[in-house]
Amino acid sequence: MSNFNQESVLGVHHWTDTLFSFTTTRDPSFRFRNGEFTMIGLKVGDRPLLRAYSVASANYEDRLEFFSIKVADGPLTSRLQHLKEGDEIIVSRKATGTLVIDNLKDGRNLYLIGTGTGLAPFLSVIKDPETYDRFEKVVLLHGCRRVAELAYGEMITEKLPNDELIGELVRNQLIYYPTVTRDPFRNRGRITDLIGSGKLFSDIGLAPLESEHDRIMICGSPALVHDTRALLSAKGFAEGNHGEPGQFVVEKAFAER
Ligand code: A2P
Repeated sequence: MSNFNQESVLGVHHWTDTLFSFTTTRDPSFRFRNGEFTMIGLKVGDRPLLRAYSVASANYEDRLEFFSIKVADGPLTSRLQHLKEGDEIIVSRKATGTLVIDNLKDGRNLYLIGTGTGLAPFLSVIKDPETYDRFEKVVLLHGCRRVAELAYGEMITEKLPNDELIGELVRNQLIYYPTVTRDPFRNRGRITDLIGSGKLFSDIGLAPLESEHDRIMICGSPALVHDTRALLSAKGFAEGNHGEPGQFVVEKAFAER
């Protein structure tokens, strides 16, 4: 049996000239845990060209969704950005990744820290009823340079709270905190600075981070991952992984260079 499924593109949405999302069919045999990534791509010549992508849809949905940057000379994204309905896409039958709630010890509040397309894995985590079962409050932080890059904001604030399956959980437990660094906006600044200064916590009405109670997932650029890991380690948080659940877990956002 092949390690890959052929899926068909159902829709494409362009957020900006550098960001887009697309949905595809989903082979029912493809299983994943919310927060995981898989390899996807296109056939170029007679060879598959594949890159890792977080699955942005939840594992109970019948379609797959992916959130991508566009890189003009990127081998895959220079092609992917021209996808249209009906195009074929290759999706690995295997998913993996560290950003799953099973890799976290029990705690009170869950913080999801994503910058840019690092939001993608958390879009599936916030649709998972189990996330709300494990944690009292789920705080989704999305940091971008520009307001236009705050993709999915409307889905999170308008659609999810009215969702049949998880609407009530979202209304009661999800706190969405978008922030930008290079445009005027109601929330401004780097996520690390907002944590360091305590502004984040006064804005959302929760106590500052404490390793005993808070659990954190991080997904973004190598610099973001590095700085946030350092900030949490200094506060006594222990990093988790597949073998050993911890107080935080990290994954760098998959970006094509
Ligand atoms: P900034 O505009 O100050 O660089 P990028 O597109 O470079 O991945 O950045 C996405 C968002 O993450 C931007 O708001 C950026 O802020 C912020 N960011 C970049 N590097 C870091 C870092 N090391 N720590 C915290 N935030 C960061």
